[in-house]
Amino acid sequence: MADTLTVTDNRTGKQYELPIKDGAIRAMDLKQIKTGPEDFGLMTYDPAFMNTASCRSTIAYIDGDKGILEYRGYPIEQLAEGSSYLETAYLIIFGELPTKAQLEGWTTEITAHRLLHENIKKVMEGFQYDAHPMGVFLATVGAFSTFYPDAKQIFEETSRLKQVHRLVAKVPTIAAYAFRHSIGRPYVYPDDDLSFTGNFLSMLFKRTELKYKVNPVLERALDVLFILHADHEQNCSTSAMRTIGSSHVDPYSAMAGAAAALYGPLHGGANEAVLRMLQEIGAISNIPAFIKKVKAGEGRLMGFGHRIYKSYDPRAKIIKRTADQVFDVTGKNPLLDIALELERIALEDDYFISRKLYPNVDFYSGLIYQAMGFPMTMFPVLFAIARTSGWIAQWEEMLLDPDQKITRPRQIYTGAKRRDYVALNKRG
Ligand code: SDX
Repeated sequence: MADTLTVTDNRTGKQYELPIKDGAIRAMDLKQIKTGPEDFGLMTYDPAFMNTASCRSTIAYIDGDKGILEYRGYPIEQLAEGSSYLETAYLIIFGELPTKAQLEGWTTEITAHRLLHENIKKVMEGFQYDAHPMGVFLATVGAFSTFYPDAKQIFEETSRLKQVHRLVAKVPTIAAYAFRHSIGRPYVYPDDDLSFTGNFLSMLFKRTELKYKVNPVLERALDVLFILHADHEQNCSTSAMRTIGSSHVDPYSAMAGAAAALYGPLHGGANEAVLRMLQEIGAISNIPAFIKKVKAGEGRLMGFGHRIYKSYDPRAKIIKRTADQVFDVTGKNPLLDIALELERIALEDDYFISRKLYPNVDFYSGLIYQAMGFPMTMFPVLFAIARTSGWIAQWEEMLLDPDQKITRPRQIYTGAKRRDYVALNKRG
């Protein structure tokens, strides 16, 4: 049997042989299917790209039915168990696990780039105290494009590498400064003696002590959460990074758009929405009424469902285990019991079973973040810190892919037919 698709256009009786490669046909191969010389040719119609591959990628692999996630072929469970976020970021960006020397060099570079230009603090001062930290984050990332004009040299490998170092290193500092601004506390400068995640905790929570004392359990838990959120193939924000980057704009401007996409409650804003939902439910006794409303179409069970995972999100399983370690230190988040009962009821309810709705990465992560002392508004910012490595890797893969060019989808026009302009004094 040949790897081809035979299609018959019943409008003309013509037959076409379309090659199948990697389980897909090229949409452009459909263009030859016409009813006549005037015909533009057949297109595919796929709103939200439910069944359209936008690229070939070697970075993340997901099997939604089996609940599998791998970064560059390494199972997420093994990376969460044995790796660190910085090492995983190296793997995602450069494609291989680093040698000892490579990891040391990478860590040195990232540590060296943690500081922000002092003027960035002035950019942040312009925000209201109650400005959502995610709005501050994405605006500041965009502002970076004005501080580092060399980033426009996107086809210079050395320039790209410098922006990679700057972005991975500086996003925790931006996040911490946005948080400190929102609580009216002075900024805490990076502490080069601390790990990537330990330094982040210091910049967030240090008070008047000379040196912040990092809790190793919380440091490791947050590092694991960063590993779990680092990349996830062609999700909404990564697709935004690729689309914006395809215009050959600098990576900071592209990432500001990616962060904006992540901000949405259907995407990276879901972890904040889950906490608000659990607080709204308020007690286990209120769960049946809440589920009834969801099933009536009045709102969604936030943190449940996924476009790709039609089984339990493997990241949610690991996060659930990590929660226990955090709560041993911080004390149990009282909302956990509501979340566990909500999951138990939903997983037994045909409405969710029939739609293959399971907990996703956002269902439990917020409970951990809140127990660690983060306000809900910081949750999507934490997601963005981790996803920065995935966004950068996907952006660079797009830039270097000979198949890619500026993204510009087609449309099916359903608007008004051609008509003549009517002068104002002649309109009804
Ligand atoms: C992330 O893409 C990624 O990889 C994203 C991410 C990543 O790492 O980058 O994994 C991170 O964004 C996780 C998802 C976080 N979002 C939420 O938890 C928000 C709640 N979830 C949903 O809004 C929804 O499940 C999505 C957005 C995640 C997926 O939406 P789809 O694939 O477009 O599914 P759909 O909206 O077409 O829903 C299919 C059916 C519908 O019912 P019917 O119209 O068939 O009757 O399932 C229902 C939906 O109403 N449904 C839900 C539901 N999610 C889908 N019903 C109740 N609660 C939900 N959460």
